Amino acid sequence: MGYFTEYQRAIEQPEVFWADQASHLPWFVPPATVLSNDDNGIERWFSDGEMNTCYMALDHHVAQGRGGQTALIYDSPVTDTQQTWTYAELTDAVATFAGALSARGVGKGDRVVIYMPMVPEALIAMLAVARLGAIHSVVFGGFAAHELALRIDDARPKLVISASCGIEIDKVVAYKPLLDDALKQAEYKPQGCIILQRPQCEAALVPGRDEDWQQAVAGASSVDCVAVNATDPLYILYTSGTTGKPKGVVRDNGGHAVALHYSMSAIYNMAPGDVFWAASDVGWVVGHSYIVYGPLLAGCTTVLYEGKPIKTPDAGAFWRVASEHKVKALFAAPTAFRAIKKSDPDGKLIGQYDLSNLETIFMAGERLDPPTYEWTVEKTGKPVVDHWWQTETGWAICANLTGIENLAVKPGSATVPVPGFNVQILDPQGQPLPAGQQGAIAIQRPLPPGCLPTIWGCHDRFVNGYLREYPGFYSSGDGGYKDEDGYVFVMGRTDDVINVAGHRLSTGEMEAVVAAHPAIAECAVIGVHDDLKGQVPIGLVVLKDGVSIDNGTLHNDLVQMIRHDIGPIACFKQAVTVERLPKTRSGKILRNTLRQIAASQPYTVPSTIDDPASLTEITAVMEQHQMIQAEAC
Ligand code: COA
Ligand code: AMP
Repeated sequence: MGYFTEYQRAIEQPEVFWADQASHLPWFVPPATVLSNDDNGIERWFSDGEMNTCYMALDHHVAQGRGGQTALIYDSPVTDTQQTWTYAELTDAVATFAGALSARGVGKGDRVVIYMPMVPEALIAMLAVARLGAIHSVVFGGFAAHELALRIDDARPKLVISASCGIEIDKVVAYKPLLDDALKQAEYKPQGCIILQRPQCEAALVPGRDEDWQQAVAGASSVDCVAVNATDPLYILYTSGTTGKPKGVVRDNGGHAVALHYSMSAIYNMAPGDVFWAASDVGWVVGHSYIVYGPLLAGCTTVLYEGKPIKTPDAGAFWRVASEHKVKALFAAPTAFRAIKKSDPDGKLIGQYDLSNLETIFMAGERLDPPTYEWTVEKTGKPVVDHWWQTETGWAICANLTGIENLAVKPGSATVPVPGFNVQILDPQGQPLPAGQQGAIAIQRPLPPGCLPTIWGCHDRFVNGYLREYPGFYSSGDGGYKDEDGYVFVMGRTDDVINVAGHRLSTGEMEAVVAAHPAIAECAVIGVHDDLKGQVPIGLVVLKDGVSIDNGTLHNDLVQMIRHDIGPIACFKQAVTVERLPKTRSGKILRNTLRQIAASQPYTVPSTIDDPASLTEITAVMEQHQMIQAEAC
């Protein structure tokens, strides 16, 4: 069956289509109801099915006689370590750690925060929480204490699982002081912490609160999988929105398992036993879906890589890992390939490795710019698939579905909507726009399985942030267009979210930090183009009347404040003092216009502007500081 037939079937007969996909998975009680509405009026999948995601990802494969197959390869150039786990070994490790959690009172519906680097124990902890029917919330290691505290307060976890340190190239980043600080800042106090001690940096444990991972496991006995309802939450993953408070995207168990299982064959063309490598981090949605759950649900081997695309030790790192572990599909962010291209422009290191097993390179997380696409195709000789998705959806909304039909590639496009996603381009009144015209990218409801049904603890935020703008649709927050062949071109966010090296960040959150500086009256933080990271944030700040502070001091203060409150991954490195910011007559800063100026996009001077000269002034300042993209692309 070709792509178009499959797509039509999923849109015209969603219940038949998804019931068929669900039947490929081992349920404890198969769902009789495929699609129904929950108490909030939100469409839910498989509401009366009973299952356990950890069972589907691990125990089931062992039960099928495939316990001896490699489930996990840990490749860590930063610690010079390689380890493998078979499905049987990983199941044992997870069942035992689940026993340790259970002995500490963790049960169905409890939350557990995981703040860990890219070590196998992070994956073991996630699966162990899932095994108990509890809910994990993984916090990316590059976030600072304040961000961790916000998530602890929102998720209210019974336990926190962490490690003594992470390793960033050759720098040891102590995690434990950040955790201690976060627990001090958080109003909610978890019952305790389990800490993995790494030899690179032993952490001091707080008596009565912290326990050593090895000791916790030593006394534990393994436990079985707890049956949950398909609509019970598997995890909460916080992502940046337009306000200072991150949003807890909720993922259910059943729809998630069905969607990811389908995606592994339909999008990535993977079969049981194939090796899949997502070079991301378990702290991001790509890591959740395609380092942990997707490959294991599909009975593949997954690679957990603790390293970077460059400098660990060189720009040949990706090719070494792909070659050594016989990777069939490699998935990473475009920024990683831009880094490799910068370091090895002629792709000389590629030729040193046997990449005969590598079939396809997948990219997502930010727009894949045509030069990076072309370089990767030319130098590797492999097909490159750009696919578009979000934390909220958990899997790709648009892709070239290599397991169904390889469509012709159009550089700059994420190709076509994935079966189940009815993607429409809408004008501000919610009317569909014709081919070639840019508008808001929206998805007609029902969303397919796997997508968020709510925001943790705040359903109104889900309704107001995603469903209210265009009734009957989910608003993606991205803008773009479809061409006459139905190919989707995603051009960028239409809100205050920016993408720095494939990491999603909120400029609103950064503004809240910058505005707290005693010398600053007001500020705007916007994303500007960066050749390597795609975008980086810059601050435009107005000083309070009568305040005098030298530029260097102010700049250093702000950089340190963002690093301290949000984390180093924000890459906030430039702040410029301006006389005033362009505003409407009612005092609202024209952030959208500032974004358009920075992106060299044409803009109309808003009729509500207070003083049009302020725009000319700010454009001159931004030009002087090279904050304007050379040409729009
Ligand atoms: N824990 C602690 N600190 C972290 C971290 C983590 N998990 N990840 C990043 N950081 C820190 C880095 O050490 C660095 O700190 P510094 O400013 O003190 O040097 C800062 O955050 C920025 O890191 P990074 O974004 O990695 O920038 P870089 O310049 O060191 O490396 C790239 C550039 C392109 C190589 C890197 O950004 C990269 O590999 N990007 C791919 C991202 C990705 O896979 N995203 C997944 C989305 S699908
Ligand atoms: P995250 O939730 O961190 O996965 O970030 C999601 C956002 O990243 C999307 O809303 C897009 O703005 C951007 N994004 C992800 N993948 C792509 C892609 N293939 N093309 C363009 N933008 C992308």
